[in-house]
Amino acid sequence: MNVYQVGPVGAVITGIDLRFPEKIPVNEIKEAFLNYSVLIFKNQELDPAGLRNVSLIWGEPLIHPVFKGIEDYPEIIQIQNLGEKYHTNAHWHSDVTFEVEPPDATLLYAIEIPDQGGDTLFSNQYLAYEGLPNALKENLESKLAVHSNLGVVILSGGDAKDAKEVDHPVVRTHPVTKRKLLYVNRLFTHKINGLENQESKKILAYLCDHIQKDKYVCRFAWQKDSIAFWDNRSVLHKPDNTYWPQLRRMERITIDDTTRPY
Ligand code: SIN
Repeated sequence: MNVYQVGPVGAVITGIDLRFPEKIPVNEIKEAFLNYSVLIFKNQELDPAGLRNVSLIWGEPLIHPVFKGIEDYPEIIQIQNLGEKYHTNAHWHSDVTFEVEPPDATLLYAIEIPDQGGDTLFSNQYLAYEGLPNALKENLESKLAVHSNLGVVILSGGDAKDAKEVDHPVVRTHPVTKRKLLYVNRLFTHKINGLENQESKKILAYLCDHIQKDKYVCRFAWQKDSIAFWDNRSVLHKPDNTYWPQLRRMERITIDDTTRPY
């Protein structure tokens, strides 16, 4: 197995055929996962059963609380954007942070890729935290913020009363690496508790701009049959949706290993 770092976050792994999970050096992969937060494997031909098997390296797959899975595989959701109006994931986010215990890891597999556009951007939240001014770090240290999926529920045709809301720390500690990281995102984080509305909006806007600086971000250009695993605790991600009317079709599994952020 070879590991090539690709920027401020992420590494490409070569020399592994994910069709044969029994031959995978799981410990090495898990170590790389913690070091680089995003692992990319190219040219992996996986059917839904194979994809599910690969996800088991990380833990049991989770049934998504909002989106329905594909036939026979309720844990695999398809991500297919059918025009601007339906871009439920168009902003920087970490998956399912509106839950009390969001999934620790996510896996995304490319089935159909447009000729142009459709990259995924990842942002390193350890570095984003470290790059904050010290006074702001201290100010945010013990703050909680509200995460809600109201916008996504409405956009996907659901009922607002089914939306979920939870408080998470603005600065969290990764439960394995023990490093501190910034834990807010534009898609789900609505308010920092204990601040006036205007102040909360101002700081959230500042943080959401801060996390997208080039020095924290890696852009991954997909090829068909590539697969990415990311640490949902330490990175944010966002697709580049500028390919419409071409199609982009991905399959995604989130892992049912969950941790309450602290
Ligand atoms: C996601 O938002 O979880 C998927 C990202 C992508 O489609 O690139």
